[in-house]
Amino acid sequence: MSPLKFDFNNMLDFNVGEKDGVTEKELEEMAPAVREAHRHLGQLLDSPGDRVNLGLEWTQLPFQDSDTVERIQALGEEIAREYENVISLGIGGSYLGLKAAQEALAPPYYNEFAPLREGRPRIYFEGNNLDPGTLTALFKNLEPEKTFVIVISKSGETTETRASFELVKQWLKRGVGEEYGRQIFAVTDPESGTLRKIVDEERKKDEARFRDLPLLRGVGGRYSELNMGLLHLAIIGVKIAEVLEGAKAMAERCREESLSRNPAYLYAVLQTILYRKKGKSIAVMMPFSETLKSTADWYSQLLAESLGKKYARKITVSAEGLENWEMDKKRIVNIGRTPVACRGTNDLHSIHQNNAEGENNKTITFIRVENFKEDLSIPPFAGFLSDKKYSELLKLAQEATEWALGREKRPNCTIVMPEITPFSWGELLFFFEMATAFEGELLKVNAFDQPGVEGYKNYMYYKLHKPGVSEAIEKEIINHPLQKKERFIL
Ligand code: PA5
Repeated sequence: MSPLKFDFNNMLDFNVGEKDGVTEKELEEMAPAVREAHRHLGQLLDSPGDRVNLGLEWTQLPFQDSDTVERIQALGEEIAREYENVISLGIGGSYLGLKAAQEALAPPYYNEFAPLREGRPRIYFEGNNLDPGTLTALFKNLEPEKTFVIVISKSGETTETRASFELVKQWLKRGVGEEYGRQIFAVTDPESGTLRKIVDEERKKDEARFRDLPLLRGVGGRYSELNMGLLHLAIIGVKIAEVLEGAKAMAERCREESLSRNPAYLYAVLQTILYRKKGKSIAVMMPFSETLKSTADWYSQLLAESLGKKYARKITVSAEGLENWEMDKKRIVNIGRTPVACRGTNDLHSIHQNNAEGENNKTITFIRVENFKEDLSIPPFAGFLSDKKYSELLKLAQEATEWALGREKRPNCTIVMPEITPFSWGELLFFFEMATAFEGELLKVNAFDQPGVEGYKNYMYYKLHKPGVSEAIEKEIINHPLQKKERFIL
Protein backbone atom coordinates (compact mmCIF):
# COMPACT_ATOMS: atom_id res chain seq x y z
CA MET A 1 0.00 0.00 0.00
CA SER A 2 1.33 3.38 -0.96
CA PRO A 3 0.22 6.06 1.46
CA LEU A 4 1.52 9.19 -0.32
CA LYS A 5 -1.26 11.38 -1.66
CA PHE A 6 -1.04 14.03 -4.36
CA ASP A 7 -3.40 16.95 -4.54
CA PHE A 8 -3.14 18.71 -7.90
CA ASN A 9 -6.37 20.74 -7.65
CA ASN A 10 -4.64 24.09 -7.39
CA MET A 11 -2.83 23.59 -10.67
CA LEU A 12 -6.11 23.56 -12.54
CA ASP A 13 -8.10 26.38 -14.08
CA PHE A 14 -11.07 26.02 -11.72
CA ASN A 15 -8.88 27.21 -8.83
CA VAL A 16 -6.35 29.55 -10.44
CA GLY A 17 -8.03 30.58 -13.71
CA GLU A 18 -7.41 29.57 -17.29
CA LYS A 19 -4.51 31.95 -17.84
CA ASP A 20 -2.46 30.44 -15.04
CA GLY A 21 -3.96 26.99 -14.59
CA VAL A 22 -4.38 23.86 -16.69
CA THR A 23 -7.73 23.11 -18.32
CA GLU A 24 -9.20 19.63 -18.83
CA LYS A 25 -8.88 20.25 -22.56
CA GLU A 26 -5.17 20.99 -22.27
CA LEU A 27 -4.71 17.78 -20.32
CA GLU A 28 -6.56 15.82 -23.00
CA GLU A 29 -4.42 17.41 -25.71
CA MET A 30 -1.34 15.97 -24.02
CA ALA A 31 -2.64 12.40 -24.46
CA PRO A 32 -0.58 11.56 -27.60
CA ALA A 33 2.63 12.92 -26.02
CA VAL A 34 1.95 10.97 -22.81
CA ARG A 35 1.28 7.78 -24.74
CA GLU A 36 4.50 8.14 -26.72
CA ALA A 37 6.61 9.04 -23.65
CA HIS A 38 5.15 6.07 -21.74
CA ARG A 39 5.78 3.73 -24.66
CA HIS A 40 9.36 4.90 -25.09
CA LEU A 41 10.19 4.82 -21.38
CA GLY A 42 8.59 1.38 -21.04
CA GLN A 43 10.60 0.03 -23.97
CA LEU A 44 13.84 1.32 -22.41
CA LEU A 45 12.99 -0.06 -18.97
CA ASP A 46 12.35 -3.49 -20.50
CA SER A 47 15.80 -3.48 -22.11
CA PRO A 48 18.66 -4.11 -19.64
CA GLY A 49 21.21 -2.87 -22.20
CA ASP A 50 19.40 0.44 -22.70
CA ARG A 51 18.91 0.89 -18.97
CA VAL A 52 22.62 0.60 -18.30
CA ASN A 53 23.87 2.52 -21.35
CA LEU A 54 21.49 5.45 -20.96
CA GLY A 55 21.51 5.76 -17.16
CA LEU A 56 18.08 4.30 -16.33
CA GLU A 57 19.23 1.47 -14.07
CA TRP A 58 18.05 3.49 -11.02
CA THR A 59 14.55 2.23 -11.80
CA GLN A 60 15.72 -1.21 -10.58
CA LEU A 61 17.12 -0.01 -7.25
CA PRO A 62 13.90 -0.59 -5.26
CA PHE A 63 14.10 -4.25 -6.28
CA GLN A 64 17.63 -4.96 -4.96
CA ASP A 65 18.09 -8.41 -3.52
CA SER A 66 17.65 -8.72 0.21
CA ASP A 67 21.03 -10.41 0.83
CA THR A 68 22.91 -7.37 -0.44
CA VAL A 69 20.72 -5.09 1.63
CA GLU A 70 21.23 -7.14 4.80
CA ARG A 71 24.98 -7.22 4.22
CA ILE A 72 25.12 -3.42 3.94
CA GLN A 73 22.88 -3.04 6.99
CA ALA A 74 25.27 -5.25 9.02
CA LEU A 75 28.30 -3.38 7.75
CA GLY A 76 26.75 -0.07 8.81
CA GLU A 77 26.05 -1.51 12.27
CA GLU A 78 29.67 -2.61 12.57
CA ILE A 79 31.00 0.86 11.66
CA ALA A 80 28.43 2.50 13.95
CA ARG A 81 29.60 0.39 16.91
CA GLU A 82 33.28 1.13 16.41
CA TYR A 83 33.47 4.84 15.65
CA GLU A 84 32.30 8.08 17.22
CA ASN A 85 32.46 10.10 14.01
CA VAL A 86 32.05 9.53 10.31
CA ILE A 87 33.28 11.98 7.70
CA SER A 88 31.36 11.46 4.47
CA LEU A 89 33.10 12.93 1.44
CA GLY A 90 31.17 13.59 -1.76
CA ILE A 91 29.43 16.26 -3.81
CA GLY A 92 26.30 16.58 -5.97
CA GLY A 93 24.67 13.18 -6.33
CA SER A 94 27.30 11.73 -4.00
CA TYR A 95 26.16 14.00 -1.19
CA LEU A 96 22.70 15.52 -1.46
CA GLY A 97 20.72 12.29 -1.11
CA LEU A 98 22.63 11.32 2.03
CA LYS A 99 22.12 14.74 3.59
CA ALA A 100 18.42 14.62 2.72
CA ALA A 101 18.09 11.14 4.27
CA GLN A 102 19.83 12.15 7.44
CA GLU A 103 17.64 15.19 7.98
CA ALA A 104 14.43 13.35 7.16
CA LEU A 105 15.03 10.03 8.88
CA ALA A 106 17.42 10.63 11.78
CA PRO A 107 16.16 12.60 14.77
CA PRO A 108 16.56 16.39 14.56
CA TYR A 109 19.86 17.51 16.14
CA TYR A 110 21.19 13.96 15.67
CA ASN A 111 24.81 15.11 15.74
CA GLU A 112 24.40 17.30 18.80
CA PHE A 113 22.87 14.92 21.36
CA ALA A 114 24.26 11.48 22.21
CA PRO A 115 20.96 9.96 23.48
CA LEU A 116 19.32 10.80 20.14
CA ARG A 117 22.08 8.96 18.33
CA GLU A 118 21.74 5.86 20.54
CA GLY A 119 25.48 5.25 20.44
CA ARG A 120 25.84 5.85 16.73
CA PRO A 121 28.49 8.12 15.19
CA ARG A 122 28.07 11.78 14.37
CA ILE A 123 28.08 12.34 10.61
CA TYR A 124 29.98 15.21 9.01
CA PHE A 125 29.48 15.91 5.32
CA GLU A 126 32.56 17.26 3.61
CA GLY A 127 34.08 17.35 0.15
CA ASN A 128 31.05 19.29 -1.06
CA ASN A 129 32.74 22.68 -1.17
CA LEU A 130 36.21 24.21 -1.30
CA ASP A 131 35.81 26.44 1.74
CA PRO A 132 38.85 25.69 3.90
CA GLY A 133 37.04 26.63 7.11
CA THR A 134 34.80 23.63 7.63
CA LEU A 135 37.36 20.90 7.08
CA THR A 136 39.88 22.76 9.23
CA ALA A 137 37.35 22.83 12.07
CA LEU A 138 36.95 19.06 11.83
CA PHE A 139 40.69 18.45 11.78
CA LYS A 140 41.08 20.57 14.89
CA ASN A 141 38.23 19.00 16.81
CA LEU A 142 37.85 15.34 15.81
CA GLU A 143 40.10 12.58 17.08
CA PRO A 144 41.46 10.59 14.12
CA GLU A 145 41.40 7.25 15.94
CA LYS A 146 37.66 7.66 16.59
CA THR A 147 36.82 8.76 13.06
CA PHE A 148 35.78 6.68 10.05
CA VAL A 149 35.90 8.11 6.53
CA ILE A 150 33.59 7.26 3.66
CA VAL A 151 34.57 8.67 0.30
CA ILE A 152 31.87 8.60 -2.37
CA SER A 153 32.70 9.37 -5.96
CA LYS A 154 31.66 7.53 -9.07
CA SER A 155 34.46 9.02 -11.15
CA GLY A 156 36.99 9.67 -8.40
CA GLU A 157 37.92 12.76 -10.40
CA THR A 158 35.67 15.39 -8.88
CA THR A 159 37.95 18.16 -7.60
CA GLU A 160 36.09 18.89 -4.36
CA THR A 161 35.94 15.23 -3.28
CA ARG A 162 39.47 14.44 -4.44
CA ALA A 163 41.04 17.46 -2.73
CA SER A 164 39.26 16.80 0.55
CA PHE A 165 40.11 13.09 0.38
CA GLU A 166 43.82 13.88 0.04
CA LEU A 167 43.64 16.13 3.11
CA VAL A 168 41.59 13.68 5.16
CA LYS A 169 43.97 10.81 4.32
CA GLN A 170 46.94 12.91 5.45
CA TRP A 171 45.16 13.86 8.68
CA LEU A 172 44.21 10.25 9.41
CA LYS A 173 47.69 8.94 8.62
CA ARG A 174 49.27 11.49 10.93
CA GLY A 175 46.84 10.56 13.67
CA VAL A 176 46.73 6.77 13.50
CA GLY A 177 49.78 5.77 11.46
CA GLU A 178 50.15 3.34 8.57
CA GLU A 179 46.96 1.45 9.39
CA TYR A 180 44.87 4.52 8.53
CA GLY A 181 43.50 2.76 5.44
CA ARG A 182 41.42 0.49 7.68
CA GLN A 183 39.37 3.55 8.60
CA ILE A 184 38.58 4.37 5.01
CA PHE A 185 35.68 3.08 2.97
CA ALA A 186 35.06 3.91 -0.69
CA VAL A 187 31.82 3.89 -2.63
CA THR A 188 32.77 4.07 -6.29
CA ASP A 189 32.54 2.66 -9.79
CA PRO A 190 33.07 -1.12 -9.90
CA GLU A 191 35.54 -0.98 -12.78
CA SER A 192 36.82 2.42 -13.78
CA GLY A 193 37.93 5.77 -12.36
CA THR A 194 40.69 7.17 -10.17
CA LEU A 195 39.12 6.13 -6.88
CA ARG A 196 38.66 2.55 -8.09
CA LYS A 197 42.37 2.46 -8.97
CA ILE A 198 43.38 3.72 -5.52
CA VAL A 199 41.08 1.20 -3.83
CA ASP A 200 42.46 -1.71 -5.86
CA GLU A 201 46.08 -0.73 -5.18
CA GLU A 202 45.55 -0.32 -1.44
CA ARG A 203 43.68 -3.62 -1.22
CA LYS A 204 46.62 -5.44 -2.77
CA LYS A 205 48.72 -4.28 0.19
CA ASP A 206 46.15 -5.11 2.87
CA GLU A 207 42.66 -6.58 2.42
CA ALA A 208 41.31 -4.63 5.38
CA ARG A 209 42.20 -1.27 3.87
CA PHE A 210 39.94 0.83 1.70
CA ARG A 211 37.03 -1.57 1.80
CA ASP A 212 34.45 -0.63 -0.78
CA LEU A 213 30.96 -0.94 -2.15
CA PRO A 214 30.64 -0.84 -5.92
CA LEU A 215 28.11 1.48 -7.48
CA LEU A 216 25.72 -0.11 -9.93
CA ARG A 217 26.45 0.49 -13.59
CA GLY A 218 23.99 2.78 -15.29
CA VAL A 219 22.95 4.73 -12.20
CA GLY A 220 23.87 8.42 -12.34
CA GLY A 221 24.81 10.30 -9.15
CA ARG A 222 21.57 12.19 -8.55
CA TYR A 223 19.46 9.06 -9.10
CA SER A 224 21.64 6.94 -6.84
CA GLU A 225 20.61 7.56 -3.23
CA LEU A 226 19.15 4.05 -3.08
CA ASN A 227 22.55 2.71 -4.10
CA MET A 228 25.39 4.91 -2.86
CA GLY A 229 23.45 6.16 0.16
CA LEU A 230 22.68 2.73 1.65
CA LEU A 231 25.74 2.41 3.89
CA HIS A 232 25.08 5.84 5.33
CA LEU A 233 21.46 4.88 6.05
CA ALA A 234 22.67 1.77 7.89
CA ILE A 235 25.17 3.75 9.95
CA ILE A 236 22.52 6.18 11.17
CA GLY A 237 20.24 3.25 12.02
CA VAL A 238 17.63 3.46 9.26
CA LYS A 239 16.19 0.16 8.03
CA ILE A 240 17.22 0.16 4.39
CA ALA A 241 14.59 -2.44 3.48
CA GLU A 242 11.81 -0.08 4.57
CA VAL A 243 13.08 2.74 2.34
CA LEU A 244 13.28 0.32 -0.57
CA GLU A 245 9.77 -0.99 0.16
CA GLY A 246 8.46 2.56 -0.13
CA ALA A 247 10.33 3.14 -3.38
CA LYS A 248 8.95 -0.16 -4.68
CA ALA A 249 5.37 0.81 -3.85
CA MET A 250 5.85 4.05 -5.78
CA ALA A 251 7.57 2.26 -8.67
CA GLU A 252 4.48 0.11 -8.96
CA ARG A 253 2.17 3.14 -9.06
CA CYS A 254 4.43 4.70 -11.68
CA ARG A 255 4.02 1.79 -14.11
CA GLU A 256 0.52 2.93 -15.07
CA GLU A 257 0.01 4.85 -18.29
CA SER A 258 -3.16 6.52 -17.09
CA LEU A 259 -2.62 10.01 -15.69
CA SER A 260 -5.40 9.41 -13.20
CA ARG A 261 -3.42 6.59 -11.58
CA ASN A 262 0.21 7.63 -12.05
CA PRO A 263 1.09 10.64 -9.86
CA ALA A 264 4.59 11.05 -11.32
CA TYR A 265 3.23 11.29 -14.85
CA LEU A 266 0.47 13.70 -13.84
CA TYR A 267 2.97 15.91 -11.96
CA ALA A 268 5.28 15.96 -15.01
CA VAL A 269 2.44 16.67 -17.44
CA LEU A 270 0.93 19.49 -15.38
CA GLN A 271 4.35 21.07 -14.86
CA THR A 272 5.12 20.78 -18.57
CA ILE A 273 1.87 22.47 -19.62
CA LEU A 274 2.38 25.22 -17.06
CA TYR A 275 5.96 25.71 -18.19
CA ARG A 276 5.55 25.54 -21.95
CA LYS A 277 2.13 27.20 -22.30
CA LYS A 278 1.78 29.47 -19.27
CA GLY A 279 5.34 30.62 -18.64
CA LYS A 280 5.84 28.99 -15.24
CA SER A 281 9.56 28.45 -15.51
CA ILE A 282 10.40 28.45 -11.81
CA ALA A 283 9.83 25.38 -9.66
CA VAL A 284 9.51 26.24 -6.00
CA MET A 285 9.76 23.20 -3.71
CA MET A 286 8.37 24.01 -0.28
CA PRO A 287 8.07 21.23 2.28
CA PHE A 288 6.29 22.18 5.46
CA SER A 289 8.73 20.36 7.69
CA GLU A 290 12.15 21.51 8.72
CA THR A 291 13.41 17.96 8.26
CA LEU A 292 12.57 17.90 4.54
CA LYS A 293 14.53 21.00 3.58
CA SER A 294 17.47 18.93 2.34
CA THR A 295 15.08 16.74 0.37
CA ALA A 296 14.04 19.95 -1.41
CA ASP A 297 17.75 20.67 -2.04
CA TRP A 298 18.17 17.16 -3.42
CA TYR A 299 15.20 17.72 -5.76
CA SER A 300 16.74 21.01 -6.90
CA GLN A 301 19.78 19.15 -8.13
CA LEU A 302 17.66 16.43 -9.70
CA LEU A 303 15.60 18.93 -11.67
CA ALA A 304 18.40 21.32 -12.59
CA GLU A 305 20.94 18.76 -13.78
CA SER A 306 18.41 16.48 -15.42
CA LEU A 307 16.34 18.95 -17.39
CA GLY A 308 18.31 22.17 -17.68
CA LYS A 309 19.73 21.50 -21.12
CA LYS A 310 21.15 23.44 -24.07
CA TYR A 311 20.56 20.82 -26.75
CA ALA A 312 17.66 18.57 -27.65
CA ARG A 313 18.21 14.82 -27.55
CA LYS A 314 18.98 12.98 -30.76
CA ILE A 315 18.23 9.25 -30.69
CA THR A 316 20.02 6.77 -32.89
CA VAL A 317 19.64 3.00 -32.74
CA SER A 318 22.57 0.58 -33.00
CA ALA A 319 22.62 -2.61 -35.07
CA GLU A 320 21.90 -4.52 -31.83
CA GLY A 321 18.77 -2.43 -31.34
CA LEU A 322 20.13 -0.37 -28.46
CA GLU A 323 19.48 3.36 -28.28
CA ASN A 324 22.20 5.96 -28.23
CA TRP A 325 21.40 9.48 -27.07
CA GLU A 326 23.45 12.37 -28.39
CA MET A 327 23.15 16.10 -28.06
CA ASP A 328 21.58 17.43 -31.24
CA LYS A 329 23.98 20.31 -31.85
CA LYS A 330 21.68 21.65 -34.56
CA ARG A 331 18.85 22.13 -32.07
CA ILE A 332 19.63 24.55 -29.26
CA VAL A 333 16.67 24.51 -26.89
CA ASN A 334 18.03 26.06 -23.64
CA ILE A 335 15.26 24.40 -21.73
CA GLY A 336 14.41 23.45 -18.13
CA ARG A 337 12.55 24.87 -15.15
CA THR A 338 14.64 26.58 -12.49
CA PRO A 339 14.36 24.99 -9.05
CA VAL A 340 14.11 26.99 -5.84
CA ALA A 341 14.23 25.10 -2.56
CA CYS A 342 12.63 26.62 0.49
CA ARG A 343 10.51 25.50 3.44
CA GLY A 344 7.50 26.42 5.45
CA THR A 345 6.89 28.09 7.65
CA ASN A 346 10.35 29.66 7.70
CA ASP A 347 10.20 31.02 4.15
CA LEU A 348 6.69 32.41 4.49
CA HIS A 349 8.56 35.37 5.87
CA SER A 350 10.93 35.49 2.95
CA ILE A 351 10.44 33.93 -0.51
CA HIS A 352 6.65 33.66 -0.09
CA GLN A 353 6.21 37.40 -0.69
CA ASN A 354 7.59 36.91 -4.17
CA ASN A 355 5.66 33.67 -4.69
CA ALA A 356 2.42 35.48 -3.90
CA GLU A 357 2.95 38.85 -5.55
CA GLY A 358 6.10 38.74 -7.68
CA GLU A 359 6.13 37.70 -11.30
CA ASN A 360 3.58 34.92 -11.87
CA ASN A 361 6.18 32.65 -13.43
CA LYS A 362 6.35 29.76 -10.97
CA THR A 363 4.64 26.69 -9.61
CA ILE A 364 4.89 25.84 -5.94
CA THR A 365 5.02 22.25 -4.72
CA PHE A 366 4.21 21.78 -1.05
CA ILE A 367 4.98 18.71 0.97
CA ARG A 368 2.55 18.43 3.85
CA VAL A 369 3.08 16.03 6.75
CA GLU A 370 -0.09 14.83 8.50
CA ASN A 371 1.39 13.29 11.66
CA PHE A 372 4.57 14.09 13.51
CA LYS A 373 6.42 11.71 15.83
CA GLU A 374 6.65 14.43 18.45
CA ASP A 375 4.19 17.22 19.10
CA LEU A 376 3.82 20.17 21.43
CA SER A 377 0.78 21.92 22.89
CA ILE A 378 0.80 25.64 23.46
CA PRO A 379 0.04 26.35 27.15
CA PRO A 380 -3.42 27.71 28.13
CA PHE A 381 -3.91 31.46 28.61
CA ALA A 382 -1.90 32.16 25.43
CA GLY A 383 -4.81 33.97 23.76
CA PHE A 384 -5.93 32.55 20.40
CA LEU A 385 -2.99 30.15 20.43
CA SER A 386 -4.07 28.53 23.74
CA ASP A 387 -3.99 24.71 23.72
CA LYS A 388 -3.21 24.59 20.02
CA LYS A 389 -0.87 21.86 18.84
CA TYR A 390 2.30 22.89 17.05
CA SER A 391 1.58 20.43 14.21
CA GLU A 392 -1.95 21.83 13.92
CA LEU A 393 -0.51 25.32 13.42
CA LEU A 394 1.95 24.03 10.87
CA LYS A 395 -0.77 22.32 8.84
CA LEU A 396 -2.96 25.37 9.07
CA ALA A 397 -0.07 27.52 7.83
CA GLN A 398 0.31 25.21 4.82
CA GLU A 399 -3.44 25.34 4.11
CA ALA A 400 -3.34 29.12 4.47
CA THR A 401 -0.44 29.38 2.04
CA GLU A 402 -2.32 27.28 -0.51
CA TRP A 403 -5.29 29.59 -0.14
CA ALA A 404 -3.21 32.78 -0.34
CA LEU A 405 -1.48 31.57 -3.51
CA GLY A 406 -4.73 30.34 -5.04
CA ARG A 407 -6.31 33.74 -4.45
CA GLU A 408 -3.44 35.32 -6.38
CA LYS A 409 -3.83 32.72 -9.15
CA ARG A 410 -0.51 31.05 -8.42
CA PRO A 411 -0.57 27.36 -9.44
CA ASN A 412 0.50 25.03 -6.65
CA CYS A 413 0.14 21.43 -5.59
CA THR A 414 0.52 19.41 -2.41
CA ILE A 415 2.16 16.08 -1.73
CA VAL A 416 0.70 14.66 1.47
CA MET A 417 2.87 12.38 3.60
CA PRO A 418 0.97 10.65 6.41
CA GLU A 419 4.19 10.70 8.44
CA ILE A 420 7.88 10.96 7.61
CA THR A 421 9.01 7.33 7.73
CA PRO A 422 11.68 5.41 5.81
CA PHE A 423 8.82 3.95 3.71
CA SER A 424 7.20 7.25 2.79
CA TRP A 425 10.55 8.94 2.18
CA GLY A 426 11.48 6.10 -0.21
CA GLU A 427 8.19 6.69 -2.01
CA LEU A 428 8.82 10.41 -2.23
CA LEU A 429 12.29 9.94 -3.71
CA PHE A 430 11.14 7.53 -6.36
CA PHE A 431 8.19 9.75 -7.21
CA PHE A 432 10.46 12.72 -7.92
CA GLU A 433 12.91 10.61 -9.90
CA MET A 434 10.19 9.16 -12.10
CA ALA A 435 8.46 12.54 -12.51
CA THR A 436 11.77 14.06 -13.64
CA ALA A 437 12.53 11.23 -16.05
CA PHE A 438 9.05 11.56 -17.55
CA GLU A 439 9.35 15.33 -17.79
CA GLY A 440 12.63 14.71 -19.67
CA GLU A 441 10.74 12.48 -22.11
CA LEU A 442 8.10 15.16 -22.66
CA LEU A 443 10.76 17.82 -23.20
CA LYS A 444 12.83 15.44 -25.36
CA VAL A 445 16.10 16.02 -23.55
CA ASN A 446 18.55 13.60 -21.97
CA ALA A 447 17.61 13.62 -18.28
CA PHE A 448 20.61 11.50 -17.27
CA ASP A 449 23.65 13.53 -18.28
CA GLN A 450 24.99 16.90 -17.12
CA PRO A 451 27.22 18.34 -19.87
CA GLY A 452 26.78 21.88 -18.56
CA VAL A 453 28.80 21.01 -15.46
CA GLU A 454 31.88 20.36 -17.60
CA GLY A 455 32.57 24.02 -18.49
CA TYR A 456 33.73 25.13 -15.05
CA LYS A 457 35.54 21.83 -14.48
CA ASN A 458 37.49 22.17 -17.72
CA TYR A 459 38.49 25.73 -16.90
CA MET A 460 39.77 24.62 -13.48
CA TYR A 461 41.60 21.60 -14.91
CA TYR A 462 43.23 23.81 -17.55
CA LYS A 463 44.38 26.34 -14.95
CA LEU A 464 45.59 23.54 -12.66
CA HIS A 465 47.51 21.92 -15.57
CA LYS A 466 45.69 18.66 -15.10
CA PRO A 467 47.02 16.12 -17.62
CA GLY A 468 44.59 15.21 -20.39
CA VAL A 469 42.94 18.58 -21.01
CA SER A 470 42.36 18.56 -24.76
CA GLU A 471 43.67 21.12 -27.19
CA ALA A 472 40.11 21.99 -28.17
CA ILE A 473 39.29 22.94 -24.56
CA GLU A 474 42.52 24.91 -24.26
CA LYS A 475 41.67 26.82 -27.45
CA GLU A 476 38.14 27.50 -26.29
CA ILE A 477 39.34 28.96 -23.01
CA ILE A 478 41.98 31.13 -24.69
CA ASN A 479 39.54 32.35 -27.34
CA HIS A 480 36.79 33.26 -24.89
CA PRO A 481 38.39 35.40 -22.21
CA LEU A 482 36.09 37.31 -19.88
CA GLN A 483 36.81 41.02 -19.97
CA LYS A 484 37.55 42.63 -16.60
CA LYS A 485 37.36 46.40 -17.20
CA GLU A 486 38.64 48.42 -14.27
CA ARG A 487 35.80 50.94 -14.48
CA PHE A 488 33.29 48.21 -13.70
CA ILE A 489 35.14 47.09 -10.59
CA LEU A 490 34.28 49.50 -7.80
O1 PA5 B 1 24.30 13.62 -10.70
C1 PA5 B 1 25.47 13.53 -11.00
O2 PA5 B 1 25.89 12.63 -11.74
C2 PA5 B 1 26.49 14.51 -10.46
O3 PA5 B 1 25.88 15.43 -9.62
C3 PA5 B 1 27.59 13.77 -9.68
O4 PA5 B 1 26.99 13.03 -8.65
C4 PA5 B 1 28.61 14.73 -9.08
O5 PA5 B 1 29.18 15.50 -10.10
C5 PA5 B 1 29.71 13.96 -8.36
O6 PA5 B 1 30.34 13.06 -9.22
P1 PA5 B 1 31.25 11.89 -8.67
O7 PA5 B 1 30.41 10.95 -7.91
O8 PA5 B 1 31.83 11.27 -9.91
O9 PA5 B 1 32.32 12.51 -7.81
